[in-house]
Amino acid sequence: MSISVTPVFVESKEDLKNKLQDILKIQELESIVVIKGIKLTEDEQLQLVRDMGDITGWFPNNSEDFNHKYVETHSYSKDKQDVGNDQIILSWHLEHVDYDEYIPLVAGVWNMRVFNCDPESGKTYFIDSKKIYNEIYTEEEKDFLRKCKAKWIEIKPDGRNITNYVDIVQPHWKTKEEQIRVELHYFNATSLHLFQGFEPNKDQIDTFHNLINRFEAEVRQNENLRIVHKWEEGDILVPDLFSLAHAVTGGFKSEDREFTGYWCYLSSPEKTEKEKIQPSWRGE
Ligand SMILES: [Fe+2]
Repeated sequence: MSISVTPVFVESKEDLKNKLQDILKIQELESIVVIKGIKLTEDEQLQLVRDMGDITGWFPNNSEDFNHKYVETHSYSKDKQDVGNDQIILSWHLEHVDYDEYIPLVAGVWNMRVFNCDPESGKTYFIDSKKIYNEIYTEEEKDFLRKCKAKWIEIKPDGRNITNYVDIVQPHWKTKEEQIRVELHYFNATSLHLFQGFEPNKDQIDTFHNLINRFEAEVRQNENLRIVHKWEEGDILVPDLFSLAHAVTGGFKSEDREFTGYWCYLSSPEKTEKEKIQPSWRGE
């Protein structure tokens, strides 16, 4: 039995403004919330993201111009309309784990501007990394994982190899609850880099893989912890992208499903020293 996203219905932009604190409280407690009943333009959406940032502490907010917009149609997924509504076309991942050592990505504000498909198609699945961590590991296993720093090598389209690093257990940026952070898109290329700051031995490497394989299996298979969002046009979904792994199902055409997302970060690139900004943002 899966979980649904709690909806907050609003009647107007004024009503949305009045309910903003309550909406963000739900988002913090449940890691996700959906606003329904209003259609926002991209500019209105950006203003909403900034107003939310003033309350949550994320960037964008009203203190500066920075924003990072993204339009998603899944046009790169060629066979998505020929597969079933429950078949995953964008595989499970935690968002931009490679950013964790730089400016972490903490939320998305996604505005489904176009949705002309079967309501059962193009669903987004989420699962909370905090809940999995607490459900599947003993205290001893958690203590082991806290000592693990992993790495993975990413091959860029131009052929360059980039090595990324991540602390496997990290506190949530706001609530401080512990969770797993691992790059699921490069899961098979992920290995234990350091254990307690030192090169790991074979036993430590084996234990790491056993524990982290359990996490990955849980993400894919645990339907009791799975949050399923069936979209309606106009939905404004606010997922906590530090905690929620997610995946997308098929059964739609690109022109029938289009959302605009604004990514929300822990700090502002404009106020961060250049060497602490993600290398890809620096063109590296
Ligand atoms: Fe994503």
